[in-house]
Amino acid sequence: MSRPQHQPAMPEQVIAHLDIRPAGTYVDATVGGAGHAQLILAASAPDGRLIALDRDEEALAMARAHLTRFGERVQLFHQRFSELPRVLAEAQSERVDGVLIDTGISMDQMLDLERGFSFQSPHRLDMRMDRRQKLTAYEVVNTYAYEQLCDVFKVVGRGREARKVAARIVSFREGIGPIQSPAQLAELIAATVNRRRWGKKRHPASRWLMAIRAEVNDELGELCRGLQVAIKALQPAQGRLVVLTWASHEHRLVRRELRRLQNPCTCLPALPCICGKQPLAEVLLPKPLSPDASEVSRNRAARSCRLHAARVLGLSTGQRNGPVMVR
Ligand SMILES: C[S@@+](CC[C@H](N)C(=O)[O-])C[C@H]1O[C@@H](n2cnc3c(N)ncnc32)[C@H](O)[C@@H]1O
Repeated sequence: MSRPQHQPAMPEQVIAHLDIRPAGTYVDATVGGAGHAQLILAASAPDGRLIALDRDEEALAMARAHLTRFGERVQLFHQRFSELPRVLAEAQSERVDGVLIDTGISMDQMLDLERGFSFQSPHRLDMRMDRRQKLTAYEVVNTYAYEQLCDVFKVVGRGREARKVAARIVSFREGIGPIQSPAQLAELIAATVNRRRWGKKRHPASRWLMAIRAEVNDELGELCRGLQVAIKALQPAQGRLVVLTWASHEHRLVRRELRRLQNPCTCLPALPCICGKQPLAEVLLPKPLSPDASEVSRNRAARSCRLHAARVLGLSTGQRNGPVMVR
């Protein structure tokens, strides 16, 4: 009997889509626990370089510990990926061969209850990836007006329910007092939403907490800016961008932005192009790649992962240095 064919696991797909070459220079824009970073360094041995960023100082310390054996091939930066141009200037690298963005937070961050990312955390609402920043989840939950909260919950995509959750938060804090912890907030949300709609496999509050985390860390704004600066940092005609997304609002955003980079024309489709906007990238996967069933059965956390890949096109210097023109 022939064995079922399995597609390579997502980490291998990342390396394949980055098209890693020995002696290339790569950016891991979200180095976290350095799992992908180690694969990139192994695949680009012996001379490949890695510029690794994380906005979370603790994650960066962990990455440093995992990457010391690679010596001078690695440079680490405590920085947001939207600041990539500044990082590249400091690293004295004008163009790189590949950029990886792996969005969201790591399991280590999630499991550190004191950071307040998990709905199980009894600690103060925090959710900051970079603890130098002022805005925390406590302020979002306890000071945002009803309309602002509705706006935050837009990414969850359930209009009427978002208004219900926002109203419940406002009435709780006005009647009883500030909401202190993720666990308290999760309990309140679970008692407000229609549990059946959220399925049995995940906590009904998890997506709502993810929306608050996205607000605290401006995750969607970062992602939009990150894609733009990554494309500009890549070697013309060969540089690769790989993005891993973990939630439907991120999948949609990356698909939309990559399509815009591939087709920035703003003219009416039925008319000849007069805007003159040139494609900056070629989308390599018409549909983002998902892990196959065998990978999901080994690692349930992988089920929501999607891989997006693009190749930068060869353009004149003028076009590359100018603003990225998007529709
Ligand atoms: C999913 S984890 C990355 C895991 C990593 N790829 C690995 O193999 O271990 C995401 C990491 O990105 C960091 N991060 C999220 N948004 C960021 C941003 N805008 N700039 C820099 N780092 C960011 C988080 O702090 C976290 O450590």
